[in-house]
Amino acid sequence: MFEALLSWSGLASTFALVPLFYVASWGVKELRYRVAAGKAGCATPAKYWHKDPFLGLDLFIKRITDMQAGDSLATDRILLDTYGKTVLTNNWGVKQYVTMDSANMQTILATQVDKFGNAPLNHKMCEAFLGDGIITMDGHAWKRSRQLLNPVFTRAQVSELSSFEVHVGKMMSKIPRDGSMVDMQPLCKMLFLDSSTEFIFGKSANTLSSEADNSVARRLSTLFDESLQTMFKRFMLGRFRFLLGEKQWLQTCAEVHSIIDGFIDEEVQAQKSAKSTSTDSDIPYNYVLLKELVKETDDKRFIRNELMNVYFPARDTAGILTSNIIFMLARHPDVWNKLREEVLSIGDQKLTFELLKSLKYVHAVISETLRLQSPIGGSWKTCLSPCILPHGGGASGQDPILLEPGDEVRMSFTPMHTDPEIWGNDSEEFHPERFLGMKQSWNFIPFMGGRRICPAQQNVLTDVCYVLVRLAREFKAVERRDETLAYVDAIVFTRESKNGAKVAFVPAK
Ligand code: HEM
Repeated sequence: MFEALLSWSGLASTFALVPLFYVASWGVKELRYRVAAGKAGCATPAKYWHKDPFLGLDLFIKRITDMQAGDSLATDRILLDTYGKTVLTNNWGVKQYVTMDSANMQTILATQVDKFGNAPLNHKMCEAFLGDGIITMDGHAWKRSRQLLNPVFTRAQVSELSSFEVHVGKMMSKIPRDGSMVDMQPLCKMLFLDSSTEFIFGKSANTLSSEADNSVARRLSTLFDESLQTMFKRFMLGRFRFLLGEKQWLQTCAEVHSIIDGFIDEEVQAQKSAKSTSTDSDIPYNYVLLKELVKETDDKRFIRNELMNVYFPARDTAGILTSNIIFMLARHPDVWNKLREEVLSIGDQKLTFELLKSLKYVHAVISETLRLQSPIGGSWKTCLSPCILPHGGGASGQDPILLEPGDEVRMSFTPMHTDPEIWGNDSEEFHPERFLGMKQSWNFIPFMGGRRICPAQQNVLTDVCYVLVRLAREFKAVERRDETLAYVDAIVFTRESKNGAKVAFVPAK
C-alpha cells in the first residue's frame, strides 16, 4: 500500500514537472530569441495573449466558430484591429505571424523571397494528394514547373475564347428569361469547372450539359471535391491531422491518380500515333495543358503531379469570383448600368483578348469585387532562414521584427484590401470607380505578387470579363432575389457565398 502510494506520488510529481519543464524551455527559447532580435536591431513583436499558451487552442476554436457563423474573416480582422497590422500567434505550438502589412508582404514575396517557402506546409499536408508540383515545392523543382507552365498560360490567354464560348453559351441557355430566380453560384462554378477540365485534361466534366453524364471526367471532379474537403481539415488541424485518419482519404487520392494516369496514357498514345502519320504542324493545336506537358516530357508521374497542382487552384476560384461579381451587381444597379453602358459602347464587335482588356470599367468592377469578396483571402508561407520584416514590433508596431526558420506567416489579404488607412473611410463600400486610373501596388494583391504570383491571372481576368460582357449584351438588368443583403461565407480552401448568388435577369429584348 505504502509502495503504491509512493509510486503514485512519484508519477504525480513527474507529471507536475511536465508543465514546469515546458515553461522553463519556453523561457530559454524566448530569452535566446530576444537576444538574437536585439542583436539584429529588432523589437519585440506584438503578441496575442492566448488563453491556451501551449497550443493556441483558443484561437483555433475562435477561427472555427467564426467560420461556422459565416464570417471567416472575423478572426484576423479582430486580431489586427486589436494588436496592429502584424501580430504573433501560436498555431498548434508553432509561432505564426498574422500580417496585413503591405511592406511585410512585399518583403516576404519579393525582396527576401528566398527566405520563405511553400513546401514546409504544403508538402506535408498535400503531398499524398497533389504530389510534387508547383504548389507543393520550392527551389529548383518549383522553378522547373513554373518554366513549363508559364508559356502555356500565356498562349492560352489569347487563343481560347472560341472554345470558352461553347461553355458560356450552355450557361447562358440555363438563365431564365421570365424574371424567375436563378442561383448563379452553382452555374458559374459549373461553367469554369467544364472549361478548366477541358483546358487541363483535354476532357470537360460537362456539368452544364443537360444529358446524364457518367464520364470519368465528371467522376474525377466529384472525387477531387471529396479529397479537398479532407485536405482542408488536415490544414486546419496542423500537426494533429493524424486524428482524422488517412485510410479513406488515401483511397480517394489513389482513385483520382488512376483516372488522371488513364488520361495521360491516352494522350501519349494519341501523340505517338499522330507523329507516325503526320508532322507536328498538321496536328490541330489547342492549348490543353496535358498535351503540352506530354510534348515536353515522358515522366508520367511529373505530368500527373503538375495537372493535379494546376487543377487544385483552378477548381472553383474563377467561378466563385464571377458569381461574387453578380452578387455585388445585383445589389448595386447603378454599377450594373455603368458596366452595361461600357459594354454596349463596343457594339457587336467580336470579343478578342485586346478588346476585353480595353474595358476599363468592367475591369474596375472585377477588381472591386476581388478587393471585398475574393475567393482567396490570403496565403501561408514558412520562414526558411532568419529574416527581418520591416514592421510589427515595438509599441507603434512600426519597428522591424526578426523571424526565425520554422516560423509561419499568414498573409491576410482581405483586411489589407479593406484597410481605411489605404482605401479611405468608404473602404467597406462597393465603389469600382476607385480603381479607374489606379496604379499597381503592393496594397492590392488578390493574385499575390512576386515570382509566385498566380500564373493564371490574365486568363481569369479575360474569361470573367468575357462572361460579364455576354451577360450585359443579353440582359438589361440583374435583380437581387435573396433575403439577406450581406455576404455570408463558407470555406473549403476557397471562400464562397453560403447563400449562393440568387438573382433574376431582365432580358434586353
Ligand atoms: C479568381 C481566381 C484566382 C485567384 C484570385 C487566384 C489567386 C492565387 C493566389 C493568391 C495564389 C498564390 C497562392 C500561394 O502561394 O499561397 C495563386 C497561385 C496559383 N494559381 Fe491562382 N488564382 C485564381 C485562379 C487560378 C486558376 C483558374 C488557375 C489555373 C488554371 C490558377 C493557378 C495557380 C497556380 C498554378 C498557382 C501556384 C503558383 C506558384 O506557386 O508559382 N489560379 N493563385
